[in-house]
Amino acid sequence: MNLKGQHILSTRQFDKEVLLRLFAQAQNYEGKGGDGAMKGKIMATLFCEPSTRTRFSFETAMLRLSGNVVSNFDMMNNSSFTKRETLFDTGKVVSQMADVIVMRHPEPSALHELARGSEVPVINAGNGPEDHPTQALLDAYTIWKEFGGLDGLTVGVIGDLKYSRVLHSQVMLLKNFGVKFVFVSPKELGLPEELKEGIEFVESEDLSEVVGEMDVISVNRIQEERFASKEEAGQFRGKFVVNKVILAKAKEKAVVLCPLPRVEELPTEIDEDLRIRFFQQVKNGVFVRMALLKMVLG
Ligand code: NCD
Repeated sequence: MNLKGQHILSTRQFDKEVLLRLFAQAQNYEGKGGDGAMKGKIMATLFCEPSTRTRFSFETAMLRLSGNVVSNFDMMNNSSFTKRETLFDTGKVVSQMADVIVMRHPEPSALHELARGSEVPVINAGNGPEDHPTQALLDAYTIWKEFGGLDGLTVGVIGDLKYSRVLHSQVMLLKNFGVKFVFVSPKELGLPEELKEGIEFVESEDLSEVVGEMDVISVNRIQEERFASKEEAGQFRGKFVVNKVILAKAKEKAVVLCPLPRVEELPTEIDEDLRIRFFQQVKNGVFVRMALLKMVLG
């Protein structure tokens, strides 16, 4: 599979072969820090939802490869979207200037509409509750580095499985390896049925009972902004907390992942635990995005 010149809109675009090549390239960049692969190229980052890590990570990746960045972090309120410009036209326009477009948008179909207009590759930095491909890539890279591979691992996926795009993307990506999933969520926030196709999984509402089986403990917060009201989201807050008591039951060699931000589900009392990887993931994310940019534009 060749990613050169392709839009990266969905996690489903990746197969095992391309993932292993991407991980090797990311590891290579981790060793040398960067190179001139994006010299003379420009990335446009169009963010229509809040972001700390993802936008900085893409932009840092571009800069570490000697490329340049133009950025709008508040497209919804401060772009021609306010004048009713269509996504198609925005894609057409920005692609006359930039060599690659990275966009985050609350509406799942928006990325596809922008890509239809764009004459350069468009990369999905999170489209509503649906998908967040590069987060899944960096999560998988983190696991791959930790265990020397992914086949045969048991991956616990914990939290808001209904609305978390990160957890959706993880399931879609890790499906490429023979992993077994343990899904832990409130019943009302279970994984969408279509994502369960073709995978081996069990479901539980009792984290303390199943945490001991997990090699990977992957956690994401309740996605409050996707609920009808804060009150509705509030009833699920703090239901599954990976605290010291839970980690005492986990495998010694397990790793705890989270895309961040964390709130109640990962209390700071576990920050000294040697199994947490959520800050390491942030660092890995830059190398993974560097590798992806090289494969798409290099
Ligand atoms: C996540 C996101 O935006 O989906 N954050 C990220 O990209 N690192 C996770 C979240 O908001 O909970």
